[in-house]
Amino acid sequence: MKAGFLGVGHYAPEKVLTNKDLEKMVDTSDEWIRTRTGIEERRIAADDMDTSDLAFRAAQEALKDADLEAEDLDMILVATVTPDTPFPSVSAMLQHRLGANKVAAMDLSAACAGFMYGVITAKQFIETNAYKNVLVVGVEKLSKITDWSDRNTCVLFGDGAGAAVIGPVSEDKGILSFELGSDGTGGPHLYQTREDLLFMNGREVFKFAVRQMPESSVNVVKKIGLSEQDVDYLVPHQANIRIMEAARERLGIPEEKMSTQIKRYGNTSSASIPIALSEDVKAGKIKDNDLVVLVGFGGGLTWGAVALRWGK
Ligand code: UT7
Repeated sequence: MKAGFLGVGHYAPEKVLTNKDLEKMVDTSDEWIRTRTGIEERRIAADDMDTSDLAFRAAQEALKDADLEAEDLDMILVATVTPDTPFPSVSAMLQHRLGANKVAAMDLSAACAGFMYGVITAKQFIETNAYKNVLVVGVEKLSKITDWSDRNTCVLFGDGAGAAVIGPVSEDKGILSFELGSDGTGGPHLYQTREDLLFMNGREVFKFAVRQMPESSVNVVKKIGLSEQDVDYLVPHQANIRIMEAARERLGIPEEKMSTQIKRYGNTSSASIPIALSEDVKAGKIKDNDLVVLVGFGGGLTWGAVALRWGK
């Protein structure tokens, strides 16, 4: 039994916040943001739209894409660091709103690596025959913990949701290898303050990321006995184009083989990989049988990667 992607979906709130808009809010420039991060605009959720609302829309799209109903789900996993409330979980809220059976539901907290933790957890339940269809959502409403007076961070983040239904696929498809890790010594570099605002030491996180993301990408490919050049498509966590480029260059693959949704969405933490994946699958950039690498890193510090053969 192999676990793979049966369907993907995403949802981004309508309101677009451009770099020009940010110029009016803090001492920054469109030029600085573009050249240092690759970000051109990001989406911001309305006040009356919380994390579970974003998650619900992405989940509906993923179910439709998988040609499944909510009642076909056996488990719901939601990766987020910005839940509506610490409890009940966003996943339990989703169970109710989707009309799923009274299945297992839990939230995962691994910051920007959260979706990877979710996918790899789903894989374990599927490949041990415990569950069949697992919904994994990566979702954030980061705007509610963003310090809108701090130019070091407020230009980077955005809101959004991405979802995938993970389930059984044929033997030659699906998730072939994975890597997960954490290093709590780096915790002070990226955390939520007592005032409930996001703090980040950008330079330290940058140094960790340019080392870890390329390393994990290579590791998952090596684990299946293939070489870096065999990778058909790379979906890295969309935090900074310079970090993403470091991973692409380490794999030695051309620009068109890497997802670059960062320009439109900024860094959406747990949501960034599934949004990018959903966008690129729908645009036909990822095709049946492609060797795809998904790789994320984030607060914790945490990281995770998978190598997979796309298709059912
Ligand atoms: O998903 C979670 C993981 N997070 C990340 O991956 C983020 C990792 N870090 C980064 O992406 C980068 O470190 C940043 C984009 C956050 C910053 O880029 P940098 O090239 O590392 O810039 P820096 O922090 O070294 O700052 C360079 C200069 C500083 O001015 P001085 O001290 O040289 O005069 C900053 O004050 O740029 C200044 N600066 C800004 N200027 C205009 C910082 N933010 C801004 C801004 N606009 N928004």
